[in-house]
Amino acid sequence: MSKLVLWLACAALLALGAAPARAQEAQPIPKNSWSFSGPFGTFDRAAAQRGFQVYEEVCSHCHSMNLLHYGDLVGIGYTEEEVKAIAASKQVTDGPNDQGEMYQRPGRPSDAFVPPFPNEKAARAALNGALPPDLSLIIKARADSSPIKGLSGGADYVDALLQGFKEPPAGFKMSANMNYNIYFPGNQIAMPQPLAGDDVKYADGTKATLPQEAHDVATFLTWASEPTMEERKFTGAKVLIFLLVMTGILYAAKRQIWADVH
Ligand code: HEC
Repeated sequence: MSKLVLWLACAALLALGAAPARAQEAQPIPKNSWSFSGPFGTFDRAAAQRGFQVYEEVCSHCHSMNLLHYGDLVGIGYTEEEVKAIAASKQVTDGPNDQGEMYQRPGRPSDAFVPPFPNEKAARAALNGALPPDLSLIIKARADSSPIKGLSGGADYVDALLQGFKEPPAGFKMSANMNYNIYFPGNQIAMPQPLAGDDVKYADGTKATLPQEAHDVATFLTWASEPTMEERKFTGAKVLIFLLVMTGILYAAKRQIWADVH
């Protein structure tokens, strides 16, 4: 009898615990194949450059990337000259000058990415009170809460999120200024749908479908989250190869030394 009571109590607790989680549940995130997955993964430079173009032309109107400098872009295959031209196309606030005033000048490769808003209040004022997060580390931040571990989990999530804007189902109660997204926890996000396909004209001629743009910008953001990933993986591979070779040598030496002992 007491066992039955215990079971019932457990079941009730489980149901209670599960209920709020279910209300928050979003659709499972589709798994993509990424050039940077796996122990020998590298960044697809062409995709990352297209992704930078999407960030520049669309996302950068709302999202800052404070940890990136224009000079970092050589990491995705832009030449020094191209980087200089990209930086010079921006207006950077510098100063104060000898008159004590701040002034605007063309950007240099050593400048950080220019943010869309001067501060958080300005961003909120422009976006109905919502704050677009800085995207420098968003892939890592979302990878940590994704069931798929590693950078791929974060990239899969952002890729899905950008394609997850839909009409809300009948009877779904939307709050003011929110948008329905099947992949966002709780399904209501303050970001209006940023991409619909054909939002950019790719410099390399690739067709700018929605899945293509989402994939490219997720690749760019993943590189931004961990620009030294390739070195890290390469070092890991070198260490493993060294250990394998060393094991072979030590085993051969052991056999040689103990050859006469029976
Ligand atoms: C009109 C402004 C605007 C544009 C353009 C925009 N965003 Fe957002 N974004 C927002 C706001 C506001 C939020 C915060 C949403 C929230 O917390 O409900 C957000 C949130 C996000 C998030 C975080 C979602 C989460 O899990 O918390 C990601 C990732 C994101 N945006 C990526 C992008 C990308 C990539 C682009 C370009 C393709 C883009 N955004 C374009 C306004 C914008």
